[in-house]
Amino acid sequence: MKNIAVIGVGYVGLVTSACFADLGNRVVALDINEERIEKLKNGILPIYEPGLGEVVERNVAAGRLSFTTSYKEAIKDAEFVFICVGTPSGVDGEADLQYVRQAAESIAEVMDHELIIINKSTVPVGTGDWVADIIRAKQPEEIPFAVVSCPEFLREGSALVDFMNPDRTVLGSLNLEAADKVAQLHLPLRAPIIVTDLRTAEMIKYASNAFLATKISFINEIANICEALGADVKEVAVGMGYDKRIGPHFLEAGVGYGGSCFPKDVLALKHMAMKEGLHPQLLEAVIDINNYQRQQVINKLRDLLGEDLSGRTIGLLGLAFKPNTDDMREAPSITIVKALLENGASVKAYDPVAMENAGRILKNITFCSNPYEVAEDSDALVIVTDWNEFKHLDMLRVRELMRQPIVVDGRNIYDPNLMQEMGFAYRGFGRGYNGTRIESC
Ligand code: UDX
Ligand code: UDX
Repeated sequence: MKNIAVIGVGYVGLVTSACFADLGNRVVALDINEERIEKLKNGILPIYEPGLGEVVERNVAAGRLSFTTSYKEAIKDAEFVFICVGTPSGVDGEADLQYVRQAAESIAEVMDHELIIINKSTVPVGTGDWVADIIRAKQPEEIPFAVVSCPEFLREGSALVDFMNPDRTVLGSLNLEAADKVAQLHLPLRAPIIVTDLRTAEMIKYASNAFLATKISFINEIANICEALGADVKEVAVGMGYDKRIGPHFLEAGVGYGGSCFPKDVLALKHMAMKEGLHPQLLEAVIDINNYQRQQVINKLRDLLGEDLSGRTIGLLGLAFKPNTDDMREAPSITIVKALLENGASVKAYDPVAMENAGRILKNITFCSNPYEVAEDSDALVIVTDWNEFKHLDMLRVRELMRQPIVVDGRNIYDPNLMQEMGFAYRGFGRGYNGTRIESC
């Protein structure tokens, strides 16, 4: 049992707190947002993450997890402090580190014993050293501490499973004793542990996310070529994925990547490279392709409905940047809705959990209570998020409800042949070939 403080109870911080508590540690989770902490004290989760409520409840009941807004209280008994505050995109895509600075300063002001401070937030290479400088400068008296980078690799929607079954744990610090103590914390997870220096650990996070984003933009480029040449990108991805050097994951073509990480991390890495006088042309292409995929929705609608979309009603199924989350950060739906409204179309939408968050961002659209309500009197439906509940809709009912049976499938969840047989004008992404699916042997 170790005493741990976690700063920030967002998507990463709350999962980290709950999971470390579940492993038998005593965790005090802090947030400067009083409303979030008040909610948590009353058993209400500030975010949607499958399974998280149960783990929080269990560990609060067992006395292993508590919440506070007071740094003094959080740090009092802590041996480890995890920084999990947000690092949004700032000017020109450079990571905005004001929250990390605030957290580091606040830790320094109250620390009265030795601490291991662990950076989980995704931060530009060199930030660990910067955090150490801030703490040194802000400490009322000199107390030893170590800064360790331990980047998170949690996917929203499956964050608990990812936390408990990581592919690897990356630790960066020149203080090997501190790195070893953090490694001990992660031992129950039984994953390979890589210990390296701070900057290399920080770079591993950016390189990993940039690579995954590259894989998505790569398959999206292939999808666009497939469409022109009459091949089916879904089958291309299957055929590629069996090659162990390529692997089957992150090869799903569609409206592209969104979320709190890929868009801002690729931009931040590009920014870091440019600051050093480099020309990160691959990263630029990854970003361009991703932006183009969103525009493709409008192109496909124009193709099916005519150039002028004004007066048309377009129904969106899904608003969150991916299924199983209520997170709207950098969601493709935001760009798509904006473009549709600019073109004079009306927008109706439904998402199983993200509508409350979406309502704060997307104005002048109609939120519906189910997919069929979206379909009613729509000129076209666009699948933006691949929620499971959209995969087995009663499509004949959908067709009857629509003004025109048109579907643009931004996540390739439907079979083009079946959709055509049911009378839909259907456009997926990269579905040029209408043959039968290849079978694995
Ligand atoms: C995380 C990471 O920290 C980010 O670097 C990574 O790239 C994406 O995931 P996330 O947990 O998704 O961020 O952020 P968010 O849900 O916005 O939560 C951050 C929390 O930190 C908020 O609850 C906020 O109130 C809190 N916070 C912020 C503090 O407690 N102190 C601060 O000084 C600033
Ligand atoms: C990502 C990282 O995967 C994770 O390790 C951590 O660093 C946080 O950021 P997350 O953003 O939660 O996780 O979701 P992820 O599953 O990676 O999906 C990101 C985006 O890419 C989503 O918009 C998703 O729809 C899209 N995507 C994913 C595709 O378009 N195609 C794919 O094949 C896979």
